[in-house]
Amino acid sequence: MAVEAYESKNPDELGYVNWESEENKTWSTLVARQKELLPGRACDQFMEGLEYLDFTNEVPQLPELNKKLDACNGWGVEPVPAIIQPQEFFTLLANKRFPAATFIRRPEHMDYLQEPDIFHEIFGHTPLLTNKAYGDFMEEFGKIALKAQPKDRRKLFRLFWFTIEFGLTKTNEGLRAYGGGILSSPGETEYCLTEESTKEPFDVLNALRTPYRIDIMQPHYFVLEDFQDLFTILDQDVLGKLEEAKKLGDFEPRFPPKKKNVKNQETDGAMPC
Ligand SMILES: [Fe+2]
Repeated sequence: MAVEAYESKNPDELGYVNWESEENKTWSTLVARQKELLPGRACDQFMEGLEYLDFTNEVPQLPELNKKLDACNGWGVEPVPAIIQPQEFFTLLANKRFPAATFIRRPEHMDYLQEPDIFHEIFGHTPLLTNKAYGDFMEEFGKIALKAQPKDRRKLFRLFWFTIEFGLTKTNEGLRAYGGGILSSPGETEYCLTEESTKEPFDVLNALRTPYRIDIMQPHYFVLEDFQDLFTILDQDVLGKLEEAKKLGDFEPRFPPKKKNVKNQETDGAMPC
């Protein structure tokens, strides 16, 4: 049976989306579930941002959310269709606009959805958009990606994947997650800090050489020495490192090969974020 594709809902002229009561219920169920799991697993900066944004039982309306984000570091969330292409994605980031598709998963997909919905984007990412190091990283990453050759952008995107989506950081209390792909997923929030996955200190060149899959729990994570290091990662000659990574080639994947006709790898389609 064909699965009905997700489509973004159109905001009205003021930017408000008419969410159905079932959609708001999905949002509040997901938020409540994650809030139970996050203490002791999410980094303090994420928890502080979550408290500041103070999500309610309804899907946040972007004009209201954006007032709060703008007051921190000038960021805002931009409503987009379910799929956008890399050029648009990086241009938005370079302009401090974080793209979010305005649809939410259906109840049958509560635990897992491959496409990033508004729960993933808003709950997983906007708490840290209140943090300067995180916002600066996103903005600079967008600018660097726009300078890269389009054919190299997918490899470059690994830096985003292993930080903004699936990053871990050391803290005085132990390892904590800050990646939005982790913190919007109940399964991965619990799994990421266990010994089922391997970890290594974050390194630009190694991250650029590490393939990933978008449809499984990550077998391997990169760990920042300190969350504030996010601010300095992109001070390096990232495009030079990208050339070096291309010359050296990819590391062996730590995951099984993809099955035929299954859309699940980083080389597919639009940006998986
Ligand atoms: Fe994301």
